[in-house]
Amino acid sequence: MNIILVGPPGAGKGTLAERLIENKGFAHISTGQILREALANKTKVGLEAKEYMDRGELVPDEVVTRIVMEKLKEKEIQKAGFILDGFPRTINQAELLDKGLSSTSVRLDYVIYLEASEKTIIRRLSGRRICRGCGKNFNIYTMQPKKESLCDACGSELYQRDDDKEETVKNRLDVYKESTEPLIDYYRKKGILETFDGDKQIDDIYSDIMRVL
Ligand code: AP5
Repeated sequence: MNIILVGPPGAGKGTLAERLIENKGFAHISTGQILREALANKTKVGLEAKEYMDRGELVPDEVVTRIVMEKLKEKEIQKAGFILDGFPRTINQAELLDKGLSSTSVRLDYVIYLEASEKTIIRRLSGRRICRGCGKNFNIYTMQPKKESLCDACGSELYQRDDDKEETVKNRLDVYKESTEPLIDYYRKKGILETFDGDKQIDDIYSDIMRVL
């Protein structure tokens, strides 16, 4: 099964993807994570993406689409079924994805739309902390680590993402409304959109989704 996760920043796409992967063994393709890794490794793509990400803007469509299409060619990913998290993010990216997949046997089964209120989003993003070692996600308000500022899984230090600062979050939300929200209608018209209440606790969201998939 192949799934796309759509929703505003902080709606819980990464958290849900983690849960689905743990329980169902999907391959995870998160464009945000791939770009952050590219930046940490100081690759050309990473350094080019940095200026956009720091401003909360979208990295050019052709850059992210190339990354995703390369991943989707991997046999392991096709075999496991994938979760696309944070891609597509524009109608153009969605059309490029459709075009890329049309010459393969890979099909999209569901687009999971996590709807979340602005109040939830701002609280979650300002509280998010990430492990420097294994990348696990925590939240000082909603998913606290057992020891302050340390990862439960590997004990490494937790940090705050640069683009989770208040000014950047505001821009990310504006960019989401303008460029990404139109995807909801795009996929609704294709008949593969399922909408879930992202304001709920992750266990409840997961159960809601399992009833549909
Ligand atoms: P990306 O990393 O994709 O960021 P995003 O879409 O803004 O999403 P987030 O990672 O902020 O949020 P999330 O929905 O995954 O929430 P999470 O589960 O972490 O992209 C970053 C940047 O990269 C973009 O701004 C852009 O520049 C670039 N980029 C990426 N893809 C691109 C593309 N396709 N095209 C162009 N540019 C691209 O949860 C947030 C917090 O809340 C966590 O702390 C978590 O623990 C907590 N939480 C989550 N769910 C719950 C819950 N149900 N209850 C309580 N707490 C919860």
